[in-house]
Amino acid sequence: MEIKLEDLKVLYSQKQLHTKIKEVAKDLNELYNGEEIIAVCVLKGAIVFATDLVRELNMPLKMEFIRLSSYGSSTTTSGKVNAVDIALPDLNGKNVLIIEDIVDTGLTAKFLVDFINMNFHVKTLKFCALLDKKITRKVDIEPDYYCFEVDNKFVVGYGLDYDGYYRNLPYIGYKE
Ligand code: IMP
Ligand code: MG
Repeated sequence: MEIKLEDLKVLYSQKQLHTKIKEVAKDLNELYNGEEIIAVCVLKGAIVFATDLVRELNMPLKMEFIRLSSYGSSTTTSGKVNAVDIALPDLNGKNVLIIEDIVDTGLTAKFLVDFINMNFHVKTLKFCALLDKKITRKVDIEPDYYCFEVDNKFVVGYGLDYDGYYRNLPYIGYKE
């Protein structure tokens, strides 16, 4: 599959995304109730969502960045998660919020949750994804928070890429 900019249809507009992100942030602000959190952004895909989301959060917050990859240049998951850079500070006793672009098979999410639980005794661990592709799930894991559910289409934009491109689109698009 090849994706050209002119073939893309808008699935969620910038306005829809911003409205929904504010709603999710409101829920998170209520959940944490002023307690400090560590927001762990999963690079590269979650960068755009994470920077918008954290600006709506009102508790003391530190950001951490890790890099995982499961896709090559194709549009299907490789089924294997690679930890490209998973350096994290001491998370013992912390409220940890993982911020991810999309949960597809769930392999990345499961890898990350297991990794954190194996290495730290965190106070709380929550998983927040921009998109939830429930229909393609292969392992039993659900994000605690997500903005939108998508069906089985390959989406790009707002951090999500096709072969590295389109992360900068301000909307979520798909090719019909
Ligand atoms: P999972 O491990 O199969 O849940 O896949 C998670 C990763 O695959 C995400 O973090 C994305 O980087 C990538 N991914 C899954 N679906 C899409 C999509 O529709 N567009 C772009 N990237 C995707
Ligand atoms: Mg990703």
